[in-house]
Amino acid sequence: MPKTTISVIKADVGSYPGHSRIHPKLLEKAQKLLKEQEGKLLIDSFVTHCGDDLELIMTHTHGVDNTKVHKLAWDVFMECTKIAKGLKLYGAGQDMLADAFSGNVKGMGPGVAEMEFEERGSDPILVFMADKTEPGAWNFFLYKIFADPFNTAGLVIDPSMHKGFVFEVHDLVEKRKILFNCPEEIYSLLVYIGAPSRYVIKHVFKRDGEIAASTSTQRLSLLAGKYVGKDDPVMIVRSQSGFPAVGEVIEPFCIPVLVAGWMRGSHHGPFMPVGLSEANCTRFDGPPRVICFGFQLCNGELIGPADMFDDPAFDRVRNRCNELADIIRAQGPFEPHRLSLGEMEYTTLPGVEKELKKRWEPLPQE
Ligand code: F6R
Ligand code: MG
Ligand code: MG
Repeated sequence: MPKTTISVIKADVGSYPGHSRIHPKLLEKAQKLLKEQEGKLLIDSFVTHCGDDLELIMTHTHGVDNTKVHKLAWDVFMECTKIAKGLKLYGAGQDMLADAFSGNVKGMGPGVAEMEFEERGSDPILVFMADKTEPGAWNFFLYKIFADPFNTAGLVIDPSMHKGFVFEVHDLVEKRKILFNCPEEIYSLLVYIGAPSRYVIKHVFKRDGEIAASTSTQRLSLLAGKYVGKDDPVMIVRSQSGFPAVGEVIEPFCIPVLVAGWMRGSHHGPFMPVGLSEANCTRFDGPPRVICFGFQLCNGELIGPADMFDDPAFDRVRNRCNELADIIRAQGPFEPHRLSLGEMEYTTLPGVEKELKKRWEPLPQE
């Protein structure tokens, strides 16, 4: 049996109204183009959206970073861009940073999370997709899922998980990576992942090297050198039988966490887990939100999806997120609602400051 690869590739190629949601014509087009490849390049596919981001979930046997699979995703986004431009949707083609495909969508705008593995007897996977936040938003949740015994009971009582997991952390500024063996190195891990705008968990592995989780780490502003929206990340997590149970994987989303990326990519806001029918950004262009689709893999076929946050068990966190939104919104343009100055460098603020620079005068020596 060849190994199965799951590729989740996403881009914002235009939305309505403003940055709120995806137009059904884009979803239809993307679905059609991927369906045409089933039985050819792909085994199976599923198209959805979170807010203004178009999400392509694809399975195949070609491994990660495959040029043909990435080209397919690029072509889908280009075709959808054409429709978005035709409808004058907002931000049509905004994440397509290059004019032509050059071998791999990484670094060209779209976000990518992929993993390849030998399917087990039964292999549940969870795909998380977010809008109005940044890749580092997953750090908190991956820590809770794979390193916190107060979240994941299996770390304590399941012999197959008791040794812990390995975290691969990327430094998006210095472009370097490091591995932490946990639980021994959780304090060292937290030194870095507590600063999620720079350090992001890219992969989590079992201690024997088996892949457990994979995230998208693209930061458009670092690629384009200017503000081009937030990066609205995706994440794939494997579950059950030696991995955290499905319920352990989604449990940390009951905590209302503040993340960066709300309004103009320039504000912190609560990360709200929602079902697909609520995956549309509204209040202050948000609040930041996340959906989770569960699938069983069957020889590469995606059995599902199950809309995991479409459940009253998540009503309370949604209410708490709304309360947090009221509290932090009341701070208006003041930090920590507004991002810190370092982070604001990648927004439209420096443009305003440029005008004011000449009016500053030096203080007299004391
Ligand atoms: C985009 C986003 C939005 C926009 C905002 C202003 O991902 O989060 O909040 O930044 O709507 O957009 P412009 O500057 O295009 O009017
Ligand atoms: Mg947008
Ligand atoms: Mg978005």
